Amino acid sequence: MQITGNTILITGGNSGIGRAMAEALHKAGNQVIIAGRNQKSLDETVAANPGMNAVKFDVSAGEGIRAFAQQVISDYPAVNVLINNAGIMKAENLLAQPEDLADMEATISTNLLAPIRLIAAFLPHLQSKEAATIINVTSGLASVPLAATATYNATKAAMHSYSQSLRFQLKDTTVQVIEWAPPAVATELMPGHSANPQSMPLDEFIAESMDLLKNTPDAEEILVERVKFLRFAERSGQFDKVFNILNTTHP
Ligand SMILES: NC(=O)c1ccc[n+]([C@@H]2O[C@H](COP(=O)([O-])OP(=O)(O)OC[C@H]3O[C@@H](n4cnc5c(N)ncnc54)[C@H](OP(=O)(O)O)[C@@H]3O)[C@@H](O)[C@H]2O)c1
Repeated sequence: MQITGNTILITGGNSGIGRAMAEALHKAGNQVIIAGRNQKSLDETVAANPGMNAVKFDVSAGEGIRAFAQQVISDYPAVNVLINNAGIMKAENLLAQPEDLADMEATISTNLLAPIRLIAAFLPHLQSKEAATIINVTSGLASVPLAATATYNATKAAMHSYSQSLRFQLKDTTVQVIEWAPPAVATELMPGHSANPQSMPLDEFIAESMDLLKNTPDAEEILVERVKFLRFAERSGQFDKVFNILNTTHP
């Protein structure tokens, strides 16, 4: 992917990693459209970044995604990059045998079904472009699970696998598929997460990711150094050790 001259839709572009990446891509010379649920933070983000656009949308809206995609394509026909970044992460006590699985279902709907639906809705349009890119934001936890957030890890592992299949099926098209797997980054994804000293500072994470995007335009995965102990744990024979460290540090 060339990191300038694109028209980019980024879901969850109104806070955390999504907002910081939207701003970095905006500064790098792209037309950026952010999507999210919270009107106040959408407004604040575009006000702070003149020329950026926002659209209010709940990605868990199921079939509504097709109409949303058609509207975005009609309003911004040049759109050639889709960044599936919106996500939620909830702690789950599986021993409590909850009757209400609302958090689990919302996690699957937001982190897994929504990107699949968005990709399906945008793919014909993206294929009509000379160069297009789909970036799926997964997680280091796709490779080594944090037991306390079981459904979250499962959705990210599923998006890792889905991205591999998608890339293979699109290999003879103009659409590139990039998986962007962050380590723990200081955002409000979970309560207290931004204050956790083990979380990577957001500005450092974005700077390193932008450098990787720029310097390795054909990369299949964007992996900052701090995520590699998770991403390559299995490959290096360290899975059990890393799993134990991760789940002892975060009981
Ligand atoms: N921070 C980390 O440590 C970390 C590590 C690995 C992966 N990630 C991934 O990075 C991505 C961004 O997370 P973050 O850390 O930046 O957390 P964040 O600050 O909480 O941002 C999450 C974003 O997702 C949006 N979102 C959530 N549900 C949505 C829905 N149903 N419809 C539309 N937008 C929705 C939120 O928008 P609203 O506020 O409008 O709902 C918000 O902009 C997620 O996919 C997350 O899994 C984060």
